[in-house]
Amino acid sequence: MTRVPQYSDEWLEKVKVAHDIVDLVGKKVDLKASGQNYIGLCPFHEEKTPSFSVNLQNQFYYCFGCGSGGSVFNWVMRTENLSFPEAVQLLAKQANIPVPHISPQQQQAMEKQEQLYHVNYLAAQYYYKLLRSKQGSNARNYLINRGINGSLAKQFYLGFAIPAWNGLVDFLQSKDISMNLAEEAGLVVKGKRGYYDRFRNRIIFPICDDRSRFLGFGGRVIGDEKPKYLNSPETPIFHKAKSLYGLNWAKDSITTKECVVVVEGYTDSIGLYAKGVSNVVASLGTAFTQNHAQLLARFTKNVVIAFDGDAAGNRATLRGLNLLKQQGLQVSVAVLASGDDPDTYARSHTQGEVEDWLTNAVPLVEYQIQTGISGYNLQSREGKLQASKEIIDILMKLDNAVERDEYSKYAAKILSVDENSLVK
Ligand code: UTP
Ligand code: MN
Repeated sequence: MTRVPQYSDEWLEKVKVAHDIVDLVGKKVDLKASGQNYIGLCPFHEEKTPSFSVNLQNQFYYCFGCGSGGSVFNWVMRTENLSFPEAVQLLAKQANIPVPHISPQQQQAMEKQEQLYHVNYLAAQYYYKLLRSKQGSNARNYLINRGINGSLAKQFYLGFAIPAWNGLVDFLQSKDISMNLAEEAGLVVKGKRGYYDRFRNRIIFPICDDRSRFLGFGGRVIGDEKPKYLNSPETPIFHKAKSLYGLNWAKDSITTKECVVVVEGYTDSIGLYAKGVSNVVASLGTAFTQNHAQLLARFTKNVVIAFDGDAAGNRATLRGLNLLKQQGLQVSVAVLASGDDPDTYARSHTQGEVEDWLTNAVPLVEYQIQTGISGYNLQSREGKLQASKEIIDILMKLDNAVERDEYSKYAAKILSVDENSLVK
């Protein structure tokens, strides 16, 4: 367990003893007393007979089946997918124990963040109600036509912003929210004649963090106007380069399935979810960042990229995926025909076909090699030479010698050249 310097052992102990592990675990697992211990079915692997036990006296849990175990901190880290400091802070907060070493500025920033989460939460409720109101009938029809029924819309907490200029402005004012705060949250815009709603006449997709706090929104036009999507601007709580749409709904499934499917768009997430792919998140059309990679790595090591047919073969996209690999993730690519995106594919195929498509995802390097070669005529000497250059480029970027060796064999076979001529 990594210790964070600012937390003293005494303070950590104080947080620890403020919680009883049997109570805490008992909230998620059915426990029965058995001698000194409490036993139940392990939440971390499939089992029919209990091998998971909680020790009251020593305050730890352990599973004889899968070997997971530890203190209340480990429990919260594992079940809530939090880092150590996050887990500690959460447990301290629940026990009303102040977290040490927070400067007044940090305290202020944290309070501001809480306020922003709250105003977004109010806005999400406002949009949610409107989609289900009389004024939301066009939006509802639009969604139905796209295969998004009431229960899917509920699952993703979809909403609707009416065409008014001050619908949300009035609503938030009725809740005594200052327009300054609403502006900071990116919900309203300050114009010459006062504040007005940022989102008008759009379907609203709330974007949450993995703890289900509302970070921001994406709004889609119902017709063909531009821009197709309007998103919340960057705010103190919303950073596009750090967020993944849908993580809050997908996280448990990602952990259970030990795999995450990454798509580009809001509707791709929903389309796949509707076909049983509950471990899906969307990158919101932005390039991958180190932050995205780290965020994913907290939940699983296995990533399946399911980008639009036109995007997946794109060189820039492929380079971006290397970043995920550098983070130690296993990346594969589920290929779609040009013109298809995961949403259209999911809607025109059965659940079984969608599963097969994802199962047949190709490891990233293999995919890069295939794409690298695809533009060349391997029958011609010049074509073969150019293709080899591309392949060498790809192989040189692999920092694992075994991997480089394996893939040079693979590429050499396709090119029918000696593998030593690709990488020595
Ligand atoms: P797409 O154009 O693939 O969106 O962009 P989509 O989800 O398939 O949209 P539909 O199916 O036509 O409704 C992928 C993602 O890029 C971002 C959005 O997050 C979108 O989901 N994007 C796209 C924007 O932010 N603004 C845009 O104007 C377009
Ligand atoms: Mn798309």
